[in-house]
Amino acid sequence: MNSSSNSNLNFSFKNKSAVVTGAGQGIGFQIALSFLQAGGQVSIWDYSQTALDNAKKELAQFADNVHFVQVDVTQVDSCTKAAAALPWPCDILVNNAGITRDKSFGKMTFEDWNAVINTNLTGLFNVTKTLSEKMNTASAHKRIINISSVVGLYGNFGQTNYAAAKAGVIGMTKTLAKELGRKGFTVNAVAPGFIATAMTNAMPKETLDAMAAKVPVARLGSTSDIANAVMFLSSEQASYINGATISVDGGIVL
Ligand SMILES: NC(=O)c1ccc[n+]([C@@H]2O[C@H](COP(=O)([O-])OP(=O)(O)OC[C@H]3O[C@@H](n4cnc5c(N)ncnc54)[C@H](O)[C@@H]3O)[C@@H](O)[C@H]2O)c1
Repeated sequence: MNSSSNSNLNFSFKNKSAVVTGAGQGIGFQIALSFLQAGGQVSIWDYSQTALDNAKKELAQFADNVHFVQVDVTQVDSCTKAAAALPWPCDILVNNAGITRDKSFGKMTFEDWNAVINTNLTGLFNVTKTLSEKMNTASAHKRIINISSVVGLYGNFGQTNYAAAKAGVIGMTKTLAKELGRKGFTVNAVAPGFIATAMTNAMPKETLDAMAAKVPVARLGSTSDIANAVMFLSSEQASYINGATISVDGGIVL
């Protein structure tokens, strides 16, 4: 039985190294933690020093396998410096850093548009461009996972900028899947639905219950739900999945 038909889903990332952007908190932090728990090495890229400091405390037990870099994905120089400072060859890149600046189209400013496109779309280009050529050339198991959103597939009121960026991420994923496949990469996207994070945890219970009621599986997603999909797409077992966008949304858009 070869690795592509192996049904053991207890993933091991021993001897594999990942870069996860925006991993100081939230979904990215959970993805980084999951890689570390599965024996991998992780470089956490985030522009918030506070988030990096908190993550460092929480991940103290993995200190030998985790590396923290303050990097702004909107700045090419910042990405180039971070890529040059990588302590390990990188096998897996998870483009997760993202922001929102929600307003109805009539009220959305040019600044709102530019901030979201620069972070959520151009940021992915900057990081992928600076890192992909430095990724472990010896590895036939290179992975790029881009975090999109259900909003990129279906649109959403008040999110013209975010929907455009996240749809752009899906187009970029498909094109890179075609271009980089022969070079030992697979490139896929994950499109989360409503995910419970520190931000949603601070909302009133009634609001959260109303959000959960719209989801066929009757709950918000967890950061682990997204990390599990990223682990799978990053694994050897997913080696024939390329250019896909996997919705992890409890069926909200059905
Ligand atoms: N939470 C959800 O419900 C949800 C749903 C769909 C998609 N997503 C996507 O998942 C990803 C993570 O979302 P989250 O909810 O964990 O967000 P979050 O705000 O909790 O975390 C995002 C992280 O990205 C970092 N970041 C932002 N801009 C950056 C930049 N320019 N350079 C480097 N780091 C930067 C922030 O400091 C933060 O640590 C985002 O791409 C988001 O769009 C989230």
